[in-house]
Amino acid sequence: MSIAIDKENRLFSLNTAHTTYQLFADDNGFVHHLYYGRSIGSFDMRFTEYYSDCGFSPNPGHIHMQRDFSLDTRPQEYTGCGIGDYRISSLSVSNGDGSYSADFRYVGFAVLDGKYAIPGLPASYDNGGECETLRIDLKDHASGLELALYYGVFAEKDMITRCAVLRNGGGNPIKLYKAASACLDLPFGKWDMIHFQGRHCMERMPERTPVPHGVLTVGSDRGTSSHQHNPFAILAAPETCEEFGQCYGAMLVYSGNFKIEAECSQLQSTRLVLGISDQRFCWTLEPGEAFHTPEVLLSFTDGGLGSLSRCYQEFLAENICRGAYRDTPRQVLINNWEATYFNFTGEKLCSIARQAKELGVDMLVLDDGWFGKRDSDYSGLGDWDVNEKKLGCTLTSLIQKIQDYGMDFGIWVEPEMVSPDSDLYRTHPDWALSIPGRTPVQGRSQLVLDLSREEVVGYLYSCFSNLLRCHEIRYVKWDMNRSLTDVFSRGLPPERQGEAAHRYVLGVYNLLERLTGEFPEVLFEGCSGGGGRFDAGMLYYFPQIWCSDDTDAIERLKIQYGTSFGYPIRTMGSHVSAVPNHQTGRTTPLHTRGIVAMSGSFGYELDPQKLSREDKEEIREQILTFRRHQDLIFYGDYYRLTNAMTDDYFTAWQFAAKDGSAALLNVVVVAPKANPYPIHVHLKGLQPEAMYRETESGSVYSGAALMYGGYTLPILTGDYPGFQCRFERI
Ligand code: GLA
Repeated sequence: MSIAIDKENRLFSLNTAHTTYQLFADDNGFVHHLYYGRSIGSFDMRFTEYYSDCGFSPNPGHIHMQRDFSLDTRPQEYTGCGIGDYRISSLSVSNGDGSYSADFRYVGFAVLDGKYAIPGLPASYDNGGECETLRIDLKDHASGLELALYYGVFAEKDMITRCAVLRNGGGNPIKLYKAASACLDLPFGKWDMIHFQGRHCMERMPERTPVPHGVLTVGSDRGTSSHQHNPFAILAAPETCEEFGQCYGAMLVYSGNFKIEAECSQLQSTRLVLGISDQRFCWTLEPGEAFHTPEVLLSFTDGGLGSLSRCYQEFLAENICRGAYRDTPRQVLINNWEATYFNFTGEKLCSIARQAKELGVDMLVLDDGWFGKRDSDYSGLGDWDVNEKKLGCTLTSLIQKIQDYGMDFGIWVEPEMVSPDSDLYRTHPDWALSIPGRTPVQGRSQLVLDLSREEVVGYLYSCFSNLLRCHEIRYVKWDMNRSLTDVFSRGLPPERQGEAAHRYVLGVYNLLERLTGEFPEVLFEGCSGGGGRFDAGMLYYFPQIWCSDDTDAIERLKIQYGTSFGYPIRTMGSHVSAVPNHQTGRTTPLHTRGIVAMSGSFGYELDPQKLSREDKEEIREQILTFRRHQDLIFYGDYYRLTNAMTDDYFTAWQFAAKDGSAALLNVVVVAPKANPYPIHVHLKGLQPEAMYRETESGSVYSGAALMYGGYTLPILTGDYPGFQCRFERI
């Protein structure tokens, strides 16, 4: 049993393989957070609680003589609001009587078999008997607002999932202005917050900041999780590094507006609150209605950031990603975007496919520009009829030709959008998010369809299910190329417009659930101008996501490094593209581009016709190399050996088979040196006593020697040289 309950003391211990999470409900019904950290079993941690009469921290009315009890200083599982806790609130409500208070008291608990689901939202699932659920029920007796806190305990995976459900059990409507998914109070210690900021073409750059006395906030109000911030944060002790030290991860399984807030309090405790952003959020709960918050994935380790990442990588790969492609090797694809942009013909596509096939590629992906009036990004989105004039044939016969070369066929779509210059917009202008009487803001000359409306979702479902039903399409790249503005739905009354942004996300999820459910044989890859919606919510539907529109191998070292903190390697779409690189103008060796792109779901994004004979030969080899290493890269443990953000000489990373039978070392020199000092790395995840052969040279080393003594690389010269070698246990 991973959930241990001391009924008399109303003490709940959630035990995983290496951690314990503990909470208790006191005699007044306040639910305290007691402990989260390395396993302490079910030992009652109330002895660690600290009470003091803290000036200007008020006391609940009915126990006001208990001057050392204040919600302002109590570590809690979830806060109410307006009742004397001045730290970050989990909740903001207004009740039928106009008051802004919620005072939650413990009502009871339930232990449920397996993993709870969240209606309409993606959430982790258990693979048979992996998870137990604890539900803590609370109630605000004055308004009738009920709060259910769910805890999913994945004992072997060291993962605790949380979500909150708010239900109006009273007689009057209640408005939610903020409804966080979880609050995590760390009563003691100093913590840094590591979060992942970025921009288009440079996503998920880790940034580490001490949690201040004041609120440190990251998030997105762009309608999607965004390039600029990622719904994942780590609280790490100041001394925590890649291999040692305490750290907590908190990841939202959500793809829309979010907010992560951290604060160090006056008594030096730290609070982390995360959930849907409260900007322009207002959700009305009629009597009897419930609001489900998105899930949060929590994990703790004292084994450093590397260990935390491996925990999230494994969990997302096995308990979030779904479908036929969850555990299967992926095909190597070639995408025509950087080869042709909008400027292609059916013949050109066939020639790309034919030549790519000769190199060993398995699938052609036809990117943007195959439909409607779409020869630039100024028009056509929404008109999903095939441009047969441009292709020179029907889509069916194009696919047939591609298949005749022995290639599978994939296609790009951007269903959530509409160009003002499109028949769809001319027919249904009200289907776009826009505010009556105002000219809507455009992004990439396009508007966003109002997926909060059922008829819009229904239309998109019939349009894209038809496309997939009528054609042999094996892969879909689902793009989303702008941030939301004018978030106003013609389907909602004025007082419910604060629901539109979240209802949009629910509409996207609904559409994806239907399409991915109906076409399980299709591999879906998410995309939003690259990695603008790279989150666990999307990974529930798409087992891979285009990591960034920046395909420059040297920039990708950082992007993939940052992404690896929370996300599995095989979920990162990454391709070898042409040089000079289209985004940076940089020229890197093909070998280096291959090494970097291989650390992801691999493919090409170039015109094979423009390749030299030597490059073609090298690509043939590269694809074979990828196929040789794919299992290790996809299912092995991943180790960051350098800090790609700060180590300016070289970047190194490694994969090790879970059973220690093999390892793959990758190094890229980002700034070659004259009279260079040695590149020396310590391998990880090997068996110390086992012997390993380096497959290229045949040299033999002990696991201990490679891990503790390290491995010295040959001198690498030239522009951005790359190095890859594999060690096999003998
Ligand atoms: C986005 C994607 C690109 C490409 C273009 C097509 O920017 O990230 O890979 O598909 O759209 O318009």
